[in-house]
Amino acid sequence: MFAAQAIDISDKAAFYRGLVKQLKALLEGEHDSIADAANTAALIFQMVPDLNWAGFYFLASDEELVLGPFQGKPACVRIAVGQGVCGTAVELGTSMLIKDVHDFPGHIACDAASRSELVVLLEDEEGVFGVLDLDSPLPGRFDSADQAGIEALAAIYVAASSFQD
Ligand code: SME
Repeated sequence: MFAAQAIDISDKAAFYRGLVKQLKALLEGEHDSIADAANTAALIFQMVPDLNWAGFYFLASDEELVLGPFQGKPACVRIAVGQGVCGTAVELGTSMLIKDVHDFPGHIACDAASRSELVVLLEDEEGVFGVLDLDSPLPGRFDSADQAGIEALAAIYVAASSFQD
């Protein structure tokens, strides 16, 4: 059984280093991309404070993201590339750190409680294939240390799930 260990959040860089270690242990030896995404979302939602949603959207085509495994309230299933925070991240090819979603024109509100959002890309050698999306009910919840930490966790997920035996 995997039991997540509490980590002190006061030093964010150390917190995310600890979370990277736990995610590596959690995904070790399992390469199923859906199972790994489900456990990645669960670990993030359990461990990262002040989230109301954490999960995946995967590119079903060049034009559209489709909902993947997540924790939180039921969410919008399809997001066009270029729409919302997630679709904009894919279109621009960059992470999106939104301090207040009310200030982001085109933000797609799946949960009216969401006030800030962090979206990072899932990218392998063939390019971007999806995003990892975190929402918080607190304005300004995410900073550059969260972005670096979640990007590191996304990279662990990509490496584990794209591993070929
Ligand atoms: N807010 C996102 C939509 C997905 S939900 O947050 C789960 C967006 O604007 O793309």
